Amino acid sequence: MYPAHRPRRLRGTPAMRRMVAETTVRPSQLVLPMFVKEGATEPVPIATMPGVLQHTRDSLRKAAVEAVTAGVGGLMLFGVPEHKDAVGSGGVDPDGVLNAALRDLRSELGDETVLMSDLCLDEFTDHGHCGVLDEHGRVDNDATLAIYGQMAVAQAEAGAHLLGPSGMMDGQVAAIRSALEREGLVDTGILAYSAKYSSAFYGPFRDAVESSLQGDRRTYQQDPANVREALREVRLDLDEGADMVMVKPAMLYLDVLRAVADESDVPVAAYQISGEYAMIEAAAASGWCDRTTAILESLTSIRRAGADVVLTYWAVEAAGWLR
Ligand code: PBG
Repeated sequence: MYPAHRPRRLRGTPAMRRMVAETTVRPSQLVLPMFVKEGATEPVPIATMPGVLQHTRDSLRKAAVEAVTAGVGGLMLFGVPEHKDAVGSGGVDPDGVLNAALRDLRSELGDETVLMSDLCLDEFTDHGHCGVLDEHGRVDNDATLAIYGQMAVAQAEAGAHLLGPSGMMDGQVAAIRSALEREGLVDTGILAYSAKYSSAFYGPFRDAVESSLQGDRRTYQQDPANVREALREVRLDLDEGADMVMVKPAMLYLDVLRAVADESDVPVAAYQISGEYAMIEAAAASGWCDRTTAILESLTSIRRAGADVVLTYWAVEAAGWLR
C-alpha cells in the first residue's frame, strides 16, 4: 500500500514552492500609512506602534522619499493637528497640517507615487468623532457631508491623487464626488473605505492621532457580525462613484474581503490596521512567533483573500524583503 496522491512533491524544494505559488505580494501593491504632526520639531515615536512615528513635515518628506525608493505603491497620509475643535476646522483649512503635508509631498514626488489622504474628521475634532455633532450630541450625517466636501476640495487642491473617506457617513462618496466635480477636480479619485467595521483593533491608531474619543463609533461603523451589510455599502459606494473600495480591518475580516472581491468590478484594498500591527509586533517581541515570517504570512493571506492593494505599516520593510 502507498498513497496514490502525494501533494508533498510540489512542496519539496524552495524553487518548486516558488513556481507553484498561487498568490504573490509585490511592493507596488503595498501602501504605507504615515502620520504628520503639526508643530512637531522632532519625530515622535508612537508607544503602541513600535517602529511607527508621528513625523514632522520635514521628516515626513524624507521618509516618503525613502518609501518610494523602496518601491512601495503609495502613501496614505494622516494629519495630527495642534488644535482640535468641535467642527474639525483644521481639516478644511488649506494650511492645516494634512493639506500642507500633501502639498509638500506632491511637490517632492510629483506623480512618482500614488498620494492618498485620509478624509475624515476624527483627527481634527476635539470630541474625536468622525463627524460633527447635533444639539443632542449625535453625529449629524448630512452636516458632516458638507464639511467632507470642503475637505475633499482642499486635499485635491493640495495634491492628493486619491481621497480616502473613512468616516462611514451615508452618501459620503457622492458628496465628495460632486464637490470635486463642481471645482473641476475631475482627475482626483476616491478610495472609499466602504466596509469599515467598528473595531477594538483601532486602539493604537487613536494614540497615533491623539484622539480624545469618548464612547464608540457604533452608530456609523459596521457591526462585526455582518457581511451582507458590507456588500450593500460597497454597492452604494460604487453607485456613488468610488474608484476603489476598501475593507477594514483586514485580518479579522478576510471573509468580508473575499465576498467584496468577488462582487467588485473595481480594485479592492484592505487595511491592515494599527491593532493588527501591534499584535504581531508584541508577539514577535515576546519571542512567541517569528516576526518576518508572521508579517509575510499576514500580507499573503490578505492578498489571497482578494485584496489588490494592502495598506500596511510594514510596507517599506516588506517591500525590502520582497524585491
Ligand atoms: C478614521 C480612521 C481610523 C483609522 C483610519 N482612519 C480610526 C477609526 O476609525 O477609529 C484606523 C487605522 C488604524 O487603526 O491603523 N479617520
